[in-house]
Amino acid sequence: MNDIVYLNGEYLPLSEAKISVMDRGFLFGDGVYEVIPAYSGKLFRLGNHLERLDNSLKAIRLQNPHSHEQWRELLTKLLKEGIDQSVYLQITRGAAPKRDHAFPKEVNPTVFVMVSNINPHTDEGVGLKAISMEDSRWKLCDTKAITLLANVLLRQAAVDNGCVEAILFKEGYLTEGAASNVFAVIDGVLMTPPKSPAILPGITRDVILEIARKNNIPCSEQAISVDELKKASEIWITSSTREIIPIVDLDGKTVGTGKPGEVWKALFKLFQAHKQSLA
Ligand code: PDD
Repeated sequence: MNDIVYLNGEYLPLSEAKISVMDRGFLFGDGVYEVIPAYSGKLFRLGNHLERLDNSLKAIRLQNPHSHEQWRELLTKLLKEGIDQSVYLQITRGAAPKRDHAFPKEVNPTVFVMVSNINPHTDEGVGLKAISMEDSRWKLCDTKAITLLANVLLRQAAVDNGCVEAILFKEGYLTEGAASNVFAVIDGVLMTPPKSPAILPGITRDVILEIARKNNIPCSEQAISVDELKKASEIWITSSTREIIPIVDLDGKTVGTGKPGEVWKALFKLFQAHKQSLA
């Protein structure tokens, strides 16, 4: 992680960044966040991430403390040139004089940003394991809230089972991963669940659909049942920090050939080329 972070208007060493224990992010998880990749020092799809941030802030009735241009400037200052990093930004409803669930009269949001190095590539030829679990989260999964206890417990259950992700189902249908979106190749078609309050509208998800459509790879945004996912020849998880990871084992059962599939190989290459073209 970079040593310098941003907190409420200041750039300072991580060890000096301090907030009040009365911060509503700490007491209630009352805040939202974004994770934005930056390739070779350039922010990837910043506009889309900031639009999603606007939507999250609107959902929790908190004003954006910065314009998009201010955000670009603020975040760029933290990046190192020439390497791949990810920006974590968080806005909470700030510290209040007393602990009360209702909003305080005066709100001074806490704005925090930190930057870490990323190395998301999975070697070609290596796939990873996942488990399926009941989606125990709330009804506002399209808001990128810092309130992530359910996601934390789901991801830990996956790790406890030697897996990299929990793939979630609600009422028999696929939603997403604990911290990722999910794609499947079923009968030759690349599928992912449609956007709804049940999933986070992933930016990586949008990029993959865009690239697939441009390259005439058949794809569809549609509901996927447990039984349909069992038939999948390929399953992937996608996110800003992990990019596109092929899952070759779900609940101890082999997916497809047990190796990353042909559609994944094609998409992975196209995705890398797309990144390069922007850098
Ligand atoms: N999480 N769904 C959930 C629940 C997520 O937490 C994430 C990303 C995604 C993928 O979204 P995107 O492609 O925009 O990164 C989907 C981030 C990386 C995190 O919480 O660290």
